[in-house]
Amino acid sequence: MQGDLERVLFDERTILRRLDEIAAQISNDYRDRDLTVIAVLNGSLVFMADLMRRIQLPLRLDCLSVASYHGKAETSGEVIFKQVAPPDVKDRHVLILDDILDSGHTLAAIREKLETAHPRSIRVCVLLSKRKQRAREVDADYLGFEIADEFVVGYGLDYDERYRNLPCIGVLRKELMAQPK
Ligand code: IMP
Ligand code: MG
Repeated sequence: MQGDLERVLFDERTILRRLDEIAAQISNDYRDRDLTVIAVLNGSLVFMADLMRRIQLPLRLDCLSVASYHGKAETSGEVIFKQVAPPDVKDRHVLILDDILDSGHTLAAIREKLETAHPRSIRVCVLLSKRKQRAREVDADYLGFEIADEFVVGYGLDYDERYRNLPCIGVLRKELMAQPK
């Protein structure tokens, strides 16, 4: 699997060291508040599991499942929520966790959806953010790493539902990605 990578950007140790730092920051910022973590599936699954075990606070966890990629490497712009009702976040301090900020469509749509449920506050935490002009402006309050505008896989991130179980994050070899029609 790792042989399908053009290069490794972050190995597991580097990722976990960064998570220690982010978790310490979150634990400090939310120390007197009731924290509700909303993880965006499936991409944030591995990130969520490693990050939440490092947060030294009582917290609630809820998951949201959305689709915007249709399995391949280009964004469609349309975000489809797979559950009927958003999680109950009324009066809660919400921290949205996602794997990567790319066009911004996904996180902007999730933020809007959760705001309709009247949380006390909403912040965004992403493991990766691509350095690029976004279709929708979204600010990450907590960020693991900034990366170039390249397609990456591993540590929860997929290409066509593969590579999520790679322990590191890397750039997928171009010839393994289907050519756009
Ligand atoms: P956005 O809506 O364009 O910001 O994209 C967000 C979602 O697209 C993420 O939650 C990922 O699931 C997926 N995505 C964006 N870029 C990548 C990438 O480089 N590798 C794998 N998935 C990606
Ligand atoms: Mg994906």
